[in-house]
Amino acid sequence: MADGGTGISRRRLLKTAGAATSLLAVGAGVSAGARAGGMPASTAPRDVLLLDQGWRFFEGDIPFPEILGQDESYDNAKAGKAWGAAAPGFDDSDWAEVRLPHDFVSFQPIEPDANRAQGYRRRGIAWYRTSLRFDPADQGRHIELQIDGVATHATVWFNGTVVDRNWSGYNGVTIDLTPFATFGDDLNTLAIRVDAHAMEGWWYEGGGLYRPVRIVKRDPVHIVTDGVFAHPVPEGGGWVLPVEVTAYNAGTEAAALTVVSSLEDADGRVLVGGRTPVSVPSLERAVARLDLRVAAPRLWSVETPTLYRVRTDLMADDRRVDSVVTTCGFRAARFDKDKGFFLNGQPLKIKGVCVHQDHAGVGTAIPDALWDYRIRRLKELGCNAIRCTHNAPTSVVLDLCDRYGLLVMDENRQFNPAPDSLAQLRWMVRRDRNHPSIILWSVFNEEPMQGSAAGYEMVRRMAHAVKALDGTRPVTAAMNGGLFTPVNVAQAVDVVGFNYQQDKYDAFHVAHPDVPLISSEDTSALSTRGAYVTDKDARTIAAYDDPVKGWNTHRGAWKEIATRDFIAGGFVWTGFDYHGEPSPWGWPSNSSFYGIMDLCGFAKAAFHIHRAQWVTDRPVLALVPHWNWQGREGEAIKVMACGNVEEVELFLEGRSLGRQPVDPYDMNHWLVVYAPGRLEAVGYTGGKVAARAGVETTGPAVALRLTPDRDRLVGDGLDAMPVTVEAVDARGRSVPLAQDLVTFTVEGADIIGLGNGDPNSAAPEKGNRRALFNGLAQLIVQTRAGGPRTLVVRATAPGLKGASSQVAVDAAPSPRRQMTAPTDLPLDTWYAAPLAPTAEDALAFRAADMTAWDDFGTRWPHDPQAGDGYTLCSVRFTPQARVGRHGGRVVFLSLVGACDVYEGGRLLGRKTEAASGRMEVALAAGAGGRRLDLLFRTPAGADFGFSGNVLVRQA
Ligand code: GAL
Repeated sequence: MADGGTGISRRRLLKTAGAATSLLAVGAGVSAGARAGGMPASTAPRDVLLLDQGWRFFEGDIPFPEILGQDESYDNAKAGKAWGAAAPGFDDSDWAEVRLPHDFVSFQPIEPDANRAQGYRRRGIAWYRTSLRFDPADQGRHIELQIDGVATHATVWFNGTVVDRNWSGYNGVTIDLTPFATFGDDLNTLAIRVDAHAMEGWWYEGGGLYRPVRIVKRDPVHIVTDGVFAHPVPEGGGWVLPVEVTAYNAGTEAAALTVVSSLEDADGRVLVGGRTPVSVPSLERAVARLDLRVAAPRLWSVETPTLYRVRTDLMADDRRVDSVVTTCGFRAARFDKDKGFFLNGQPLKIKGVCVHQDHAGVGTAIPDALWDYRIRRLKELGCNAIRCTHNAPTSVVLDLCDRYGLLVMDENRQFNPAPDSLAQLRWMVRRDRNHPSIILWSVFNEEPMQGSAAGYEMVRRMAHAVKALDGTRPVTAAMNGGLFTPVNVAQAVDVVGFNYQQDKYDAFHVAHPDVPLISSEDTSALSTRGAYVTDKDARTIAAYDDPVKGWNTHRGAWKEIATRDFIAGGFVWTGFDYHGEPSPWGWPSNSSFYGIMDLCGFAKAAFHIHRAQWVTDRPVLALVPHWNWQGREGEAIKVMACGNVEEVELFLEGRSLGRQPVDPYDMNHWLVVYAPGRLEAVGYTGGKVAARAGVETTGPAVALRLTPDRDRLVGDGLDAMPVTVEAVDARGRSVPLAQDLVTFTVEGADIIGLGNGDPNSAAPEKGNRRALFNGLAQLIVQTRAGGPRTLVVRATAPGLKGASSQVAVDAAPSPRRQMTAPTDLPLDTWYAAPLAPTAEDALAFRAADMTAWDDFGTRWPHDPQAGDGYTLCSVRFTPQARVGRHGGRVVFLSLVGACDVYEGGRLLGRKTEAASGRMEVALAAGAGGRRLDLLFRTPAGADFGFSGNVLVRQA
């Protein structure tokens, strides 16, 4: 049957089945010996290796070949025998190389006939493949693949076996690769098919491997992923840190261990420690618990986010088998029915924003360093909380919130207590429950069943699942209706979340005086950065925070919250604009208008409004709009001052236009007859000047300016940053209406995205050109691992003086990465001709049809011949396209018997020893199908063939 490349006969499969049994037996023997005590010697407790490079990517689907034959059907049902692009040897040599995080949808054009909610970008299907090389010393270790997020439906194959199917783009998966793994020169193939046709949201969701992927190597006995729960709670006058550790034992024997945990401060000083025994049966989990007590730790707060580290070791006698460091913070959080939220005993109004995972240029594939920029922007805003809408974020977001001091409402995606969805909810709580920043678990956003008995039953189950994993934080749900029905989800949560419905705050509070309330979502005010005229044709909305469509404003929504103590605070929709969900208009608008900042993180007027409302520890003052109204001289221009001072006075060219008491909610407004010059606001507190802000009429743009976000980067291939691009006049003042098209060149790093915050632009966000939008654009650059020590960005635009900027790139030890390699083609089905008396007779079989011969595989040798002679063994294959073009090698990992290797009439190599050994022969370039013939000397009774893979390897 079939050809030598993919087919396999019933006969061979029967042989395979028999031999697999004996292999298993051998395997068991080896592991019992080598893993005495369940552990291999001489390995670090835990290797966490990034798998961000070495990926090959194919955009589109590669349908599986239709299976019609009996033998193929049999084969298709077997482990390790995946077909098509999932097959280990599938030719991906011409696929594009990509690095993670990778949102393939962000590379798509923005087109009017694609889905509006998803930002008019096509989604579709894509494949990712890579080959992993595991060190022989890793044999016996537990090897786990961690995918932090893949959008949307994903199927994962490892060495030709399906190892996972995942149905949400918002949860991470961990996959035990150990039983399938090979070591040394025998590579491992990882293939992932991503179907991003599936949508889970009504916003831009991206597609592909858009969050980190890692390989983690540990002892067979180890702490499971997310297996340390250590979150301190106040007790008596002090604190208790309950440490709960889940261990797993993949070894063959039960393991008796000790869990040792200690609490360290930021300087590494150990404050307290404890230990407890745990025994873990083979192939089971076991949970160990111990309590650490601390009398007076430094507290975590939004102003001083003090963090501690919990080091947890798993000890087998004196040997550290595994070790995990988690972060914790000591903070007491509670919601009060009348007084809102309290942190460490003090009332704290929650000044929050909703955040999607999305940014200009990169879509959902946001490097950690760009998240750092985004979180810093939120801190500058005066915000003290984020709501992760409408899904759990990538984990670095929570690390940054811990570090910078932002509270978090963490949110689940699928409203569904069925097993698959409940598993996603549990995954979120297990992964995130150590973060001091998290104060609320949200089980849903705006679900139509929220006002029904069914909704109540669903939330009851989901809340129970959350509580089983974390009894310290309240559960909420973001409700936009159903609050007053006889049975509704408000009855199944601890804190009721209001989405909008601000006119119902008081009525609900009166009807349910014992229930704490929060505005889980509000505002949804619309504005275009830098635009101060609403123009439907131009699709711009003035940024003065006027009501649009009768919806609320930034000022109005906050006033409703700020003036009620029983509302714990709120989350503005949204902190940043995001791709998709354009409103109020569709095409050509393709991203949202809701942000306090635009897609790049540039401030809209709402930024100044919220700073005035939210910042309390220093004076702030800003003026809106710009003062470039050439052509409108003599016309009245609306001016808004946003300040947190007591009074504000406005001056045009030094002439007072009046002093007003500051309205902390509505801000201060003037109509100013336009004349070019300087408009200045002076803020007073206690009668003294406390702040000044000004806008000036600029001259025409004459030059570009580049402002990198940071002055040093790390050359690890991960670090990234935005660079702000502006046009400036002859006096170096930023020109607010500049729209110049800018071209960039970058040396020493890569451009990973471009943006300008224009929600109506369909220009590509990849490449090297971007127009300024109302004076600003953003370029996002990422370092290369081991790249140059200086990064140079140059910008040019017609008619303007170009700009350049240099940033130092620090040589950094590269993060530890999993080793990858190009894909090998395994030649795993060979055919043996009948025994021939002489070499010439055997070689004559090269002209014959091999498929009638005896077929055999490469995992163990062919049965010996009954008499002396020669046996020709052949295989047909089509090498990888790259090998066809450039040549390659054939690697015999373990060739058994003496033999000559031929391709056509050419002798490629010779092995003279009968004992098994490795051998490589060069394979010349050449198009199309090929045939290798191995002429074995086969004395009676001697093994010949292979006891390891035969691989066509790319040069
Ligand atoms: C809310 C919803 C958000 C977003 C917003 C736009 O109802 O929760 O996801 O769609 O409306 O105004």
